[in-house]
Amino acid sequence: MDNIMRTIEIFDTTLRDGEQSPGVNLSLNEKLEIAHQLERLGVNRIEAGFAAASPGDLQSIREIANRIKNSTIVSLSRSVQSDIDKAWEALKDAESACLHVFIATSPIHRKHKLNMTKEQVIENAVAAVKYGKKYFDLVEFSCEDGSRTEIPYLIEVVQAVVDAGARIINIPDTVGYTTPMEYGNIFLKLSENVRGIENVKLSCHCHDDLGMAVANTLAAIQAGATQVEGTINGIGERAGNASLEEVAMALDTRKDFYQALTALKLDEIARTSKLVSRLTGMIVPPNKAIVGANAFAHESGIHQDGVLKEVTTYEIIRPEKVGIKSNKLVLGKLSGRHAFKEKLEELGYHLEQEDLNDAFKQFKELCDKKKDVSDDDIIALVDSELAEIPEKYSLENLQLSYGNNSIPTASIRVKRADGVELEEAATGNGSVDSIYKAIDRVTNEEVELEDYKIVSITHGRDALGEVYVRLKQSNLTVQGRGVSTDILEASAEAYLNAINKIIVLRGDVVEALV
Ligand code: KIV
Ligand code: ZN
Repeated sequence: MDNIMRTIEIFDTTLRDGEQSPGVNLSLNEKLEIAHQLERLGVNRIEAGFAAASPGDLQSIREIANRIKNSTIVSLSRSVQSDIDKAWEALKDAESACLHVFIATSPIHRKHKLNMTKEQVIENAVAAVKYGKKYFDLVEFSCEDGSRTEIPYLIEVVQAVVDAGARIINIPDTVGYTTPMEYGNIFLKLSENVRGIENVKLSCHCHDDLGMAVANTLAAIQAGATQVEGTINGIGERAGNASLEEVAMALDTRKDFYQALTALKLDEIARTSKLVSRLTGMIVPPNKAIVGANAFAHESGIHQDGVLKEVTTYEIIRPEKVGIKSNKLVLGKLSGRHAFKEKLEELGYHLEQEDLNDAFKQFKELCDKKKDVSDDDIIALVDSELAEIPEKYSLENLQLSYGNNSIPTASIRVKRADGVELEEAATGNGSVDSIYKAIDRVTNEEVELEDYKIVSITHGRDALGEVYVRLKQSNLTVQGRGVSTDILEASAEAYLNAINKIIVLRGDVVEALV
């Protein structure tokens, strides 16, 4: 059966379209962490950002391009020369680079957004592809809002950009409006009517506004698409993008039907999903297909009975296939540095000495608080360590006074990057509120708390707890994350983490750290 399987390439846009999710604002280290994991997962292309969007975006694309060797690195670009120049500046040192240019083609966008005629849109598109080809061997062209574009005109646009040298043609369902049959038909029509289409890759890019992103993606594959664009956990603008893990598992589980496979290392899916969720603060709903906490849980007695008799009665995917391992106890108080390093390597981490020392120190501290240390605990610790940002403030000490009939009071001591220790106390409506007021005072930052979430990493009373906060300061919105066996300490860490990120994004961290 395998020799007739088509190969579907994966274009991951978690770091670009995914980062457009409201409130998600990844730091450079967080983006690097995700990019390394995407490379491990085996994605063909990583859209690392939109170089012209900001100097920070350009810098992170460049860093990712310098480090990732096994996936092609992509920058998005409008169909304007200055954007393409920026994309080249970011990607010129990549082992393998791709320019992704786009312009909207639908009547709604032409009229209301671009104020351009059909001819002007084609002229811009062709000029952009030709200009891009001066720098890039691989140019992808996207017809933004392609699914709402008149098909004869879409054929004209695609013919023009193929003739101009585009090697990947992407038809986004930008607003998540299409249906599987309608979307598949677009790909069939392009295949039948564009000269030279057999020499280009056809790509699909679906948004989930009507909950059909994955179904539409699979329909495009059936109709001839050989590249799928999407994100891990389906994060992205509005309702998000097609979930890559769902597409990959649909193809794998129903290869009898689709006759198409990706080259993803499927057993890296769970880990990639957890990392993306943790670093973006976008929590995966328990019932989410493939990566939700309940995706492999059998609750009803009849189902449990069936699974015990024969697992295939109610289970179409073995959890191990996507890398879900039982949380067996791995290391503990008596484990030494050598065992810890081996465990990290088994989990796929190859840390520099300094990071290893810091991670080992944190592991030992965790062993003092928690008897059973699982793989998930270790992953959570190391991921925070690797994604660390330059800290202006670090937590030194937290003390709380709470009684059900008294006013909660927090006193806090933090260390500033220049070594000075600062102390403050505050009262609040509850313990967390008092901690946050004390931190506001000690850092002298004015921020707005937009969201606060608690998640537990493992089970049991001594489980590691994660706290996510979303803070806003003028036009900056950031996620902060804290991990601890104590939820109040995790709350303080998350808040300080977000404040440190704001300081980095504001650009005054360098001054603070020298
Ligand atoms: O959804 C969309 O249209 C996009 C394009 C910019 C590719 O993300
Ligand atoms: Zn999109």
